[in-house]
Amino acid sequence: MGTYAIAILAGDGIGPEVIEQAVRVLQAVADRYGHIFTLTEALVGVAAIDAEGDAISDATMELCQRSDAILFGAVGGSPRFEGPDSKIQPERALFRLRKDLALYANLRPIRPFKALLNASTIKAEILQGTDLLVVRELTGGIYYGKPSEIRETPQGCDAIDTLIYSEAEIERIVRTSFELARDRRKKVTSVDKANVLSSSRLWRRVADRVATNYPEIALEHLLVDSCAMHLIRRPTSFDVIVTENMFGDILTDEASMLAGSMGMLPSASLGVRRTDHGLFGLYEPIHGSAPDIAGQEKANPIAAILSAALMLRYSFNLKQEADAIEAAVERIVEAGYRTEDLREAGKEVVGTKEMGRLIAETIRG
Ligand code: IPM
Ligand code: MG
Repeated sequence: MGTYAIAILAGDGIGPEVIEQAVRVLQAVADRYGHIFTLTEALVGVAAIDAEGDAISDATMELCQRSDAILFGAVGGSPRFEGPDSKIQPERALFRLRKDLALYANLRPIRPFKALLNASTIKAEILQGTDLLVVRELTGGIYYGKPSEIRETPQGCDAIDTLIYSEAEIERIVRTSFELARDRRKKVTSVDKANVLSSSRLWRRVADRVATNYPEIALEHLLVDSCAMHLIRRPTSFDVIVTENMFGDILTDEASMLAGSMGMLPSASLGVRRTDHGLFGLYEPIHGSAPDIAGQEKANPIAAILSAALMLRYSFNLKQEADAIEAAVERIVEAGYRTEDLREAGKEVVGTKEMGRLIAETIRG
């Protein structure tokens, strides 16, 4: 039994409605296992821009720093801030949290539930047995490299983005992936574009060097275009995939389809800071704000709920409780309940709240 401080940043679009269900599930865990989760809500994204003048305020950053973990919904998706000339971006909240809190390792596990094998666009026989973990570098690369701007020239505009990685940045994320592979099937696939990019050639060199410290782990290199193909051709051949920021962003949207829907995929963003309970981290569904379905009871809360499970596992060392959430989700999906994104003939489609309630009640037992 313990007391854990969680910052709740629900954000925009479907963020608040899926986080509400994740909180409900956390409450069920608290009741069943006798923990106390102290939840403090704060604004991020569009709501924060309107009320506080920035996508995330200094006060909210401080709240996050004081917390044991952050549960994050989604930001962005408002046409007011989407234009190419928009000065302020809701996404800045995420970028600042990731960078300022040094959350360089983004873990995105993909293990399709048996009951959902037919919900995927990929054939069930290809999916069967898939269990992979993408480790995405989150605080470097082209997301943060400077310069990044549009420049006016006499011939029209030029635009530049900068893809830069230091050896140290590559080394720590590759190490993280090898450490994680140790407790899994002991295989790391390092993904790059070494036939084109200098940053990828350095990436490969560093990955090879790190691998010499882990003789029990098999390292393979794959070019990102080839990886995109193999992910849907032979997904079961992957164990841990480690890659740079933007490749990881793209590959995980693709890989989410293995699980049937983006609405199923949780993520954990970790650094090195430790709290009294474990590793400090930020937990968020990978799906984003989906403004087109917000407020209609169509959003799938499972990615947010599974993100809460990752929080219990990585930040609070509550393994049994994390397992209980994951088992409850699997049970409800196996019982035939689906949200709109997983609509299937013969299955019962329920709303966001009802899905959260079913999972919470299963945990309460
Ligand atoms: C993700 C998202 C973000 C990213 C967006 C919202 C900026 O797509 O977490 O995968 O690109 O990192
Ligand atoms: Mg993404």
